[in-house]
Order: sequence, then structure tokens, then C-alpha cells
Amino acid sequence: MTKDGAKKRIEKLREQIENLRYRYHVLDDPKVTDEVYDSLTRELKKLETEFPEFIDLNSPTNRVGGKPLDKFVKVAHQVPMLSLNDAFNKEELRAWEKRVLKFIPVDDAGGFHIEYFCELKMDGLAVSLIYENGNFVKGATRGDGFIGEDITQNLRTIESIPLKLRSKLDYLEVRGEAIMSKKTLNKLNRVQEKLEKPLFANTRNAAAGSLRQLDPLLTAKRELDFFAYDIVRKTQDGKEGTPLTHSGEHSLLRQLGFKVDKHEEVCKNLGEAEKFIKETEGIRKTLDYGTDGVVISLNNQTLYEQVGVVGKAPRYMIAYKYPAEKATTTVKDVIFNVGRTGVLTPVAIFEPTLVAGSTVSKATLHNMDQINKLKLKIGDTVVIQKAGDVIPEVVEVLPKLRSGNEIAIKIPVHCPVCGGGVGKRSIGEKSSSQSTAYYCTNSKCPAKNRRGMQHFVNIFEIYTIGPKILDRLKDEGLISDAADIFTLQKSDIDGLERFGEKSAENIINSINAHRKISLARFIYALGILHVGEQTAEDLARHFGAINKLMNASLDKINSIENIGPVVAKSVYNFFHAKESLNYIKKLKTNGVEILREAKKVAGKFKGITFVLTGGLESISRDEAKANIKRLGGSISESVSKKTDYLVVGSEPGSKLPKAEKLGVKILNEKEFLSMSSR
Ligand code: IVH
Repeated sequence: MTKDGAKKRIEKLREQIENLRYRYHVLDDPKVTDEVYDSLTRELKKLETEFPEFIDLNSPTNRVGGKPLDKFVKVAHQVPMLSLNDAFNKEELRAWEKRVLKFIPVDDAGGFHIEYFCELKMDGLAVSLIYENGNFVKGATRGDGFIGEDITQNLRTIESIPLKLRSKLDYLEVRGEAIMSKKTLNKLNRVQEKLEKPLFANTRNAAAGSLRQLDPLLTAKRELDFFAYDIVRKTQDGKEGTPLTHSGEHSLLRQLGFKVDKHEEVCKNLGEAEKFIKETEGIRKTLDYGTDGVVISLNNQTLYEQVGVVGKAPRYMIAYKYPAEKATTTVKDVIFNVGRTGVLTPVAIFEPTLVAGSTVSKATLHNMDQINKLKLKIGDTVVIQKAGDVIPEVVEVLPKLRSGNEIAIKIPVHCPVCGGGVGKRSIGEKSSSQSTAYYCTNSKCPAKNRRGMQHFVNIFEIYTIGPKILDRLKDEGLISDAADIFTLQKSDIDGLERFGEKSAENIINSINAHRKISLARFIYALGILHVGEQTAEDLARHFGAINKLMNASLDKINSIENIGPVVAKSVYNFFHAKESLNYIKKLKTNGVEILREAKKVAGKFKGITFVLTGGLESISRDEAKANIKRLGGSISESVSKKTDYLVVGSEPGSKLPKAEKLGVKILNEKEFLSMSSR
């Protein structure tokens, strides 16, 4: 290709990719397919490598470009990032209105001409974005409102933030909220759980933690989103040329290519604003992002100067906060659960209490450090919170309510499951993130083994064996470890009480269908302390074969990128314990086959969303879901316009008529199986 031709093609590709990104990430238009986007991006990347003279920092190929930082650089905000005063009820809103009206002149008839603008208060992190000549040049956190931190590299990874504005402007400073969706939080927490790492309590903490990563690659993986809500400067030295109303400003933000939340309303009076509050409170649970209230401002921005700022908060705006989802209860007991890797996790048992629409009777306390931080005792009255819509947590102890009969929480001397010894160790690679963990030292502890076996069968995708069946097989003495599963015969189990011939057959079929496994999955399935999915992949990629990993020196494991000393030691110890070697040998003897190459995911279902309804005959629902995922597709719980296929089994529910109404394609079990057969 000629240089000139390349230049033109590059420009065209950038424009097209940018348009697709805008439609997908800003307008939420599901019609855009990943394949087209990926393929155009690949072509653009190739041309940019061949013709480096046309490289552009803000090319769509360049979102995750920068190197990890040592620390964040401080930046001073030219316009301070203020905070908002809160109102918790109608009276406080009325009192706010009264304060505001004092600064607004009355018209000839003795009345006020005011309009309110209502929008949702997003529960994320305030950030400021600066554009020069239409290009995104700098982004910062709020910090103390005057000085924040430069997190440009991380913000560039957020796909809904435009790297270039849709219309040219010399200068622009925009404020908005960086958030993590509830869906992404759940996904992230599932990974944290598997790694036995602390869960993120809510979308805000998770978004904040993700933006604080020094390595933009890590931030990119967290799939953050951004909603713009304010233009603070439209010229280097002021707001010249900005719309006169806040609603107009939102329209301008949309025109410039920003994602602005659609829930907004211009209200003629506070009564209308209260209606907006009520309506949004009703739908907030259905939104995929966290909201904690409504921001109400004077719509007429020309009044802002005269209404003014009090302290650090503008008087012309207020945050109405939805009632907090907190409750008090008493701690009846603290028990210790033994995890797959033997770590003892304290769990508080409460007097059952209703919070945010569901009854909460227990909550993890994560570790002893957390108990010490809370100064918690058994018998204490505590404030609990249902954060991030799912995970309840203890946020505070109310010591004034103590009777004197509270009991200090003691670390068990013996494992609560097997009575084995309890050891202590530090977890976390860096001193700043270190905490103390207690663990059962007995390698044969059945709790470890029980969870470990469930983990093992899940990773092997033997979904027909759930916890109850696993317990049953153990109780009957049919298996003592996961390797024994591969020796089971139909005749071993179909005679057992409550095991029909059909279910026995399903179990055996599923075991036989999953004897082959990639090296990475095999390593992950072993349940080695500190070895999660990612580390297992790193190890598999590096060593290529299980024998090489088993014979590797500690130094060698230590030298692998992304693997720190604590993890390396754990891996080394595992492969140097006699039990582990016997176990691996037994797995192989019993017919487990480790594939050298990781199974390639055929992206046949990429970008396609399935919903399942009714019972399937020949495979379990979990297996059907796993098949969809393996082929790159996604699964949704409910039918919407975004659903591509509804898979219908016996006795389908209300999803079927809904899908028919929306024109979603319907597959019966047979059609689905032939579509997903490899
Ligand atoms: S306007 C003077 N609009 O709330 C501050 N803030 O307590 C102007 N927030 O730090 C902010 N959604 O992080 C505004 N639609 C919205 C918002 C919003 C969330 C946050 C923002 C700010 C905090 C104010």
C-alpha cells in the first residue's frame, strides 16, 4: 500500500472504529458486533505498525498504552472540585429551597422564576477530564478537591470516555463519575472469591480500587464506565460559550460524545423534583449501576454566581440521599469456616434482620484484622449494611449498648472441622496490603478436602456432581479424594438409595466427557494455596508441561512475571510434598489426561446472548451454560431485546411468551445441541 493510501485507510478505519465504539459504549446500541469492531481494529493496528509515521496517541488502538507508574503525580484543579450538601427528607429539601430563594430576585408579580434540574447521583468516583484541541489530554481524581492525582492512563482505558470529542473545541474540562457496573462487580467478586481474596463491598470501592492501579492494564480489565454530568470550563480561562441551563449543558455533553445518564428532568417546582426522587428510587434496583440519591440543582446556571458557594459546597445544588440500607442487629456468635486452602474465615451470625429487602443472618468478617479493627465482641450490637446490593457487612460496633456480658472472639486453637492444628501466616505480597490469616495445618482436613473436591469437579466441569452428591459419595466410602471420582462406575452408584439409573448414568457420562483438561485448568483444579485462575495460566504458559513445573526450582518459579515470592513458595511446596505427587500420579493413573495446549475457545458464539427456560433432557442447565461460555457466548437471566436466542426445554416459563413478543429466536433442545456441538 502506498503511504498516501495507508494514511487515508487509517483515517477511515479510525473514524469507523470510533463510531462503533461510540454506538456500543456510549449509546448502548447492542447492534454493534464485537467481531466487526475487533477485525477493523486488527487491520488498523497492522497499518499503524507498518506506517508508524501516522501513529496518533488518541487512536482507538491506543487505549491501554502506558507503562505502569511508580506513583501517581499530583495535579492542582484549576476549578476546585466541590462537594455537595445532603438532604435526607422533604423538610430538608424545603429548607434548602428557602435558603436559595433568599439570593434570587423576585419578578414584577412578586414570584420567582426558577426551574430545578434533577439527575441521578452516581455512586462512583468523581473525576475531571481535560480536552485540548478536541483531544483527551489529562484526567484526575478529586483528591481533597483542590489537588487530585493524575490518572490519565487509567481513564483512557474506559471505553465510554471519548479520546477525541465529536466536535472540535479548543478547550474543555468535564466532570463526571467513574463507576463500575453491578454486573462487573459480581464478576470481579466471583474471581476474588475463587482466589480467596477479600470481596469488594460495593461498586464504589471497586471502582476506586480499580482507578488506583498503577498499571493501566489492570484498570482496563475492570471494565469501568463513565457518566459525564458537568462542564466546568469551556475555554482555558472560563465557561464562555456554555449553555445557560444545566439541562442545556447535558445536551452539549451528549453532542460532544459523552455518556450522560438518561434519567434527568427539568422540574418546575420542588414537588415535581420530589416526584422524580420517588420514581427513581423505585427503579434504582433495576439499574446496572449504583446510585445513592438525586442531585437537584437550579437549572438556570446564570444564577450560580449570585446564589454562591458555602464552604466547600455550592448553595445552588443539593444531593438528596436515598435512605441508607443499613440496620442494627446483635451478633449471636462468630464461627470459623474452613476454606478450600485451609484458611479460617470468621463469620458473624446475627439475629436475623431485614436490610434492603432481604433477611440477613450472617456476614463474613474477612479475617481477624477486621475483627480487631471493628473491636467486635460476641453479643455486640452492630450496624450492618447491605452493600453493593448483595454482600452484607458489619460496618460498626455500638459499644455504648454493651451489657458487660460480651465475649471476646478467640482464634480457634484447633480446626473447627478436623480438630487439627491452627497455623498463622501473613498474606498479601506487600506490607501495605498484608493481613494475618489463620489456617488448618492438617493436609488431610476433610473441610479442605470437601471444598477442594468441589472446586476440582467444578474446574473439570463435572457439573452433575454437586456438594450433596459429593458428600454422599464420600459417606458411602466410594471416594476419598477427587482422583477416585475417575474410577467410579455406573454400577457403583445406581444401587445407592435415591440414585436412579438415569442420574447415575448422567454422572458417569459427565465424568467420562471431562477427563481431558488443559494444563492451566489442571493446575488450577489442584487447589494450590494462592494459585487462582490467572496464576495457573501463567504457570502453564511458562512451563508447558506438568513435569517441568513439578521439577522447577524455587528460583525458577520466582522468576516468572506476575508471580511473587509468597505464591512461588506455595507452588514449590505443593509440588514437593509427597501427598501431592502421589495425588497427581493417581489422577493420571485413573485416566485424567492433561492436554499440552490450552483448549482454544472457538469464538462461534461470540457476541451472542442466550437465555434458558424450562428443563433440559440430555444435559444439565449448568452444562448448557458452560457450553455457551466455552464457545464465547454469554448467558442472561431474562429475555430482553438484547437476547439472541431463547433455549426452550420442558415446561418453559414466562420467558417464552416474552421472547415471542420481542421476536427473539427460539431454539428447542435438539437445535441448541446441534448448534453447540463441537
Ligand atoms: S454534581 C459540587 N452530579 O457527588 C459538586 N455530582 O458530593 C458537583 N456525584 O463528588 C457535583 N453523581 O462524585 C454531581 N450527577 C451528579 C453526580 C455527582 C454523583 C458525586 C460526585 C461528587 C459528589 C458530591
